Amino acid sequence: MPIRSQEARQFAIDKLAQIQKGNQFQPPSEEGTLLFPGFDGGGEWGGAAADPEGIMYINSSEMPWIMTMNKVIKGQKEDMATIGKNVYKAACISCHGANLEGSNLYGNVPSLVNLKDRIDKPQLIKTLKNGKGVMPSFGTLSENALNALSAYLLQTEEKDNNKDVAATWPYPYTFGGYKRFIAPDGLAAINPPWGQLSAIDLNLGEIKWQVTLGNVESIKIAGITQTGTENYGGPIVTAGNLIFIAATTDSKIRAFDKSTGKELWSAKLPAPGFSTPATFSKNGKQFIVTAAGGGKIGQRSSGYYVAYAL
Ligand code: HEC
Repeated sequence: MPIRSQEARQFAIDKLAQIQKGNQFQPPSEEGTLLFPGFDGGGEWGGAAADPEGIMYINSSEMPWIMTMNKVIKGQKEDMATIGKNVYKAACISCHGANLEGSNLYGNVPSLVNLKDRIDKPQLIKTLKNGKGVMPSFGTLSENALNALSAYLLQTEEKDNNKDVAATWPYPYTFGGYKRFIAPDGLAAINPPWGQLSAIDLNLGEIKWQVTLGNVESIKIAGITQTGTENYGGPIVTAGNLIFIAATTDSKIRAFDKSTGKELWSAKLPAPGFSTPATFSKNGKQFIVTAAGGGKIGQRSSGYYVAYAL
């Protein structure tokens, strides 16, 4: 339970009272199921770093998410645009938003408002079948579902007004979207740490050390010096016994002592470095470079690569 404010605490208490409780293997539910770690980890696509002695260094987000399922009502007859809206709710809402407004969940997910002014039906179907950038392909949707989506998104007239919902979405439930368990203040509805860096001894199967990664400076919680932050992007470990990692929402890149986890250095990036740094040497001089693209989870964006050298 968060102790940082009465508001955050009450939010968490109320929400937990509503959702499903049980063991680890409960199927997802309509009332909601808490996932911890969440859809994005724990550790995630940034990966881990490892050294030849068999120590693995990996960052993790400590962010709970809530998964909900929505029931599809069988035999319900609707016009194509309404069915399209249901397909949208099932397959697209998690990224493009409840009102087609887009989101910054995966970089910049574009708004689909007034889509008909920008693309026609063949282009839409092509985008859906092939996917685009981080948007996955929806080639497995039926022709019916694709036509219904087109009717909804391009507001085209469809003569047949009496389609069975279940014919376009043959599954009993739709997925309610990727939702973090965050309090009204925008932070995880749990106590810190919200992000950590761990060294795991693979020879022993033991955690060698574990430290918080990143800090939400706007918040002071009694007894907590570093909150850690949600993080995307991984670490590297060098022969000079250093770990370099950005990944945090506080837009910093840091160096840690690989044997103790002590933070040795940090620098401010123009936006969060949701990336894994690289190291290279040129003319005998070693560099560290990282992409500071930001953009995710409501963070500012930038187009910078930032490089450091001694
Ligand atoms: C995982 C997140 C995600 C999901 C789910 C998703 N999209 Fe997208 N969509 C994106 C992203 C990101 C882009 C931008 C891709 C690019 O330009 O690189 C995009 C682009 C599009 C575009 C092109 C918009 C334009 O202005 O050119 C359309 C149309 C679209 N999506 C429709 C849909 C529909 C319909 C669904 C559901 C069947 C859907 N998307 C599901 C992330 C998603």
